Amino acid sequence: MIGISKLSLGQDEEEAVLRVVRSGQLAMGLETHDVETEFSKRLAGVECIAVSNGTVALTLALAAMGVGPGDEVITTSFSFIGTVEPIIQLGATPVFADVDLASANIGVDGLEALITTRTKVILPVHLYGRPVDLAAIRSIAAKYNISVLEDACQAIGASDANTGEIGSSGTAVFSFYGSKNIACGEGGLVTTDDPQLAERIRLLRSHGSIETYRHALVGYNARMTDLQAAILRVQLESLDRVTAGRRSNAAYYLTSIHNDALVLPPGDDRISASCFHQFTLRLQSAADRDDLQAWANQHDVETRAYYPYALSSHPVIEGLGFGARCDNADALSKVVLSIPVRESLSHDERTHVADVINGWEPACR
Ligand SMILES: Cc1ncc(COP(=O)(O)O)c(C=O)c1O
Repeated sequence: MIGISKLSLGQDEEEAVLRVVRSGQLAMGLETHDVETEFSKRLAGVECIAVSNGTVALTLALAAMGVGPGDEVITTSFSFIGTVEPIIQLGATPVFADVDLASANIGVDGLEALITTRTKVILPVHLYGRPVDLAAIRSIAAKYNISVLEDACQAIGASDANTGEIGSSGTAVFSFYGSKNIACGEGGLVTTDDPQLAERIRLLRSHGSIETYRHALVGYNARMTDLQAAILRVQLESLDRVTAGRRSNAAYYLTSIHNDALVLPPGDDRISASCFHQFTLRLQSAADRDDLQAWANQHDVETRAYYPYALSSHPVIEGLGFGARCDNADALSKVVLSIPVRESLSHDERTHVADVINGWEPACR
């Protein structure tokens, strides 16, 4: 089976873990310090705060932005549930914006209409690794004096011609969960060009601690361990190679897959350069998606629906009274299907994937 994601860990990661074990310092030691410095160097010198995972990174950033009960956070209706959990856990209200059908990213046109006096943050997601229209979102936010927090959990290595590599300006959050383009099992990072915000996030990360047993506020335990940081440092060294490999596979699919029964994702344009965390096809119906998934499975190609729900109509979210009508998100949840695009695909594997997709005909035609 040609899998969607495959961890790429080698001798360098093994040696990095051993180095930490032998150092006797398992958390908040030199490795965590160094991984932050190395990310910062890559990302135009912004402040980098390493934390235990992407969900907690969102929680800390929102909390540091002052989000709490009574506040509204505008976010996308189509993402992993980890995007919205932090908003709800902080006692704030998620307000869902519908998405653009072609990119599956938050639609910018409808955003202004959702802003109220209670809106504190706009939280867009660079879904599948494709950057949202950041310049447009930042300009709307600036007009209303609202913060922007980018959920870049899937977008390490992606870039935007107007604002640079994702994470190198503004405030963004990354995940290094096992399925991500670079990974350390569980891990997260907040990046921000606002030093005061960074200071608050650092305090929140470790019990609000200024020094041992002196606490400036009630915080969290959201620290990254040095074991994770050491693995991540090695993985970060491979980021350019990984991104180039994924882009090359995506470019290959964009020119080699020809099947009228499906729509390919947008390629890069003058502004957005995706890191292709996912390469996601759009089918014409839910039945077609099931049929293509079964066909691919029979031919040893793993596929996944990211995501089989819209956040705005997810039963758990609706049950809390936060549901909203977002037609495009609902439609996408029924017809999206991702195929393997990881950099570790061999030439034969990616050719096989394209052949399998080209060879599929919808059963119900
Ligand atoms: C868009 C998005 N947001 C948030 C998260 C949460 O990250 P983590 O799994 O590291 O908590 C993920 C990753 O799983 C994600 O893909």
